[in-house]
Amino acid sequence: MSLNDPNAWWRHAVCYQVYVRSFADSDGDGIGDLPGITDRLPYLRDLGVDALWITPFYTSPQNDHGYDVADYRDVDPLFGSLADADALLARAHELGLKVIVDLVPNHTSSEHPWFQAALAAPAGSPERARYLFRDGRGVDGAEPPNNWESVFGGPAWTRVTEPDGTPGQWYLNLFDSTQPDLDWRNPEVGDMFEGVLRFWLDRGVDGFRVDVAHGLYKEATLRDQVVEKGEHASTHDIAAAEEVSHTGGTSMVERTMRDEPMWDQPEVHDVYRRWHDVLAEYDGDRILVAEAWTQSAESLARFIRPDEMQQAFNFSWLLAEWSAEAFTEVITSTFSAMDLVGATPTWVLSNHDVVRHVTRYGGGDEGLQRARAATLTMLGLPGSSYLYQGEELGLEQVDVAPEFRQDPSWFRTGEVGRDGCRVPIPWGDAKPPYGFGPGLDQPWIPQPDHWESMTVAAQESDPASTLSFYQAALAARRGIVDAGNAVEMVDLGPDVVAFQRGHLTVLLNTGSTPVALPEGEVLIASGPLADGSLPGDTAVWIG
Ligand code: GLC
Repeated sequence: MSLNDPNAWWRHAVCYQVYVRSFADSDGDGIGDLPGITDRLPYLRDLGVDALWITPFYTSPQNDHGYDVADYRDVDPLFGSLADADALLARAHELGLKVIVDLVPNHTSSEHPWFQAALAAPAGSPERARYLFRDGRGVDGAEPPNNWESVFGGPAWTRVTEPDGTPGQWYLNLFDSTQPDLDWRNPEVGDMFEGVLRFWLDRGVDGFRVDVAHGLYKEATLRDQVVEKGEHASTHDIAAAEEVSHTGGTSMVERTMRDEPMWDQPEVHDVYRRWHDVLAEYDGDRILVAEAWTQSAESLARFIRPDEMQQAFNFSWLLAEWSAEAFTEVITSTFSAMDLVGATPTWVLSNHDVVRHVTRYGGGDEGLQRARAATLTMLGLPGSSYLYQGEELGLEQVDVAPEFRQDPSWFRTGEVGRDGCRVPIPWGDAKPPYGFGPGLDQPWIPQPDHWESMTVAAQESDPASTLSFYQAALAARRGIVDAGNAVEMVDLGPDVVAFQRGHLTVLLNTGSTPVALPEGEVLIASGPLADGSLPGDTAVWIG
């Protein structure tokens, strides 16, 4: 297990995900915005992260909260202006923080001028050829062109009404019907996105998180998918991911291979080779990080070959159940896959699409204790870690009342959806909006009544708080950089995840029986230690 080229900033960076709508609201409309983020950058510097990734803030009707882009080169007025984006970048760089922005290349918004032009143009026109329009099957083309399902539920095809009022062709939407998939076999599409990359690189962004990076190309024939009985239609299935993480699933390596003509096609790698070369023209080590829900660690590794992207999210830990066996398997299989291509691993426990890890691990005190222990174990590994806003406060998934749910998957399936991990951050005060913004009312998703003790202000002054723990862990992490990149797993019994990394030993006790601590200085622990031993649901770094 080793890594090459250890000096690039991103190889061991801690990157904090900012979900723009829910981080900080500067103007009191109840929705977070770019000036709100800029105001809070000193908080992120003091927390001790190296970089932030900001979810999409471009012009968008907000049907999927910005993952439906109508103009890739402008800021939605809801979030501010291009001048606000420039100010954010300048201030972040002044504070020594890198900034990664989101790029959404698989689909546009249905309000994008290209899609509007496609709707107004006839079947077979160059305007329609930028998307995947096809005639339907069955009598009068009334059936969708194939059997594919949307990740958000229901068929992945929507039928249009032609300009003359007759029922017409269908277009592919692997997500919401307001997110039509682009046809990446059309060279115009690639050229458009190269322009978008350059637009933001010229403004100084340090990298891009590439949304649905395993999408883009579909098998050219758009043939039916072969779905076995009882199988989820898609790897990129948010409901399935949540189910797995609740019920205790398997790592990516163990899952059986599905037939997926819509995902992970070989042609997609040409796109990332082209983008790699574009980034290389710029100074400062800019990066691409893939959001790719692939079926194996090996196929994920293909996205980070030396001439493609720098990083790919490794969702295997986030999908694993609470068990030493599962976590050990995640660590060893991640390193094996990374070694195939000489890449650096990434680690992540929460993001805006999944149930927060405190809740996944059981919620309440037990869930929090486990979440802190998993986080400390993750931060002890070489590679780059991604944190999701609010996890440093120990926030749980919120049970959002149906009338406040906004996730498009909720409207398409009637299933709870992802709103519960997107509730605005409590900064201070004793009641909603807890200092989220200057407004007096609840923000866009209501915050719970019991968050007074969870706010940043309440936790900053408490050395035992989760916020203080994260600050201490990130500070301690700077002290272990010299522990190197080689990791050796140590067998301390079925309930313990243990590894040696240079002079650092990391232990996580997932069971309930205390485990004897090895010799050495305790650098940090995720919770109180009992005399000479590591209690259950606790992790420790020994140096
Ligand atoms: C990614 C995003 C998710 C979004 C989807 C469609 O999975 O993380 O939030 O809904 O892509 O763009």
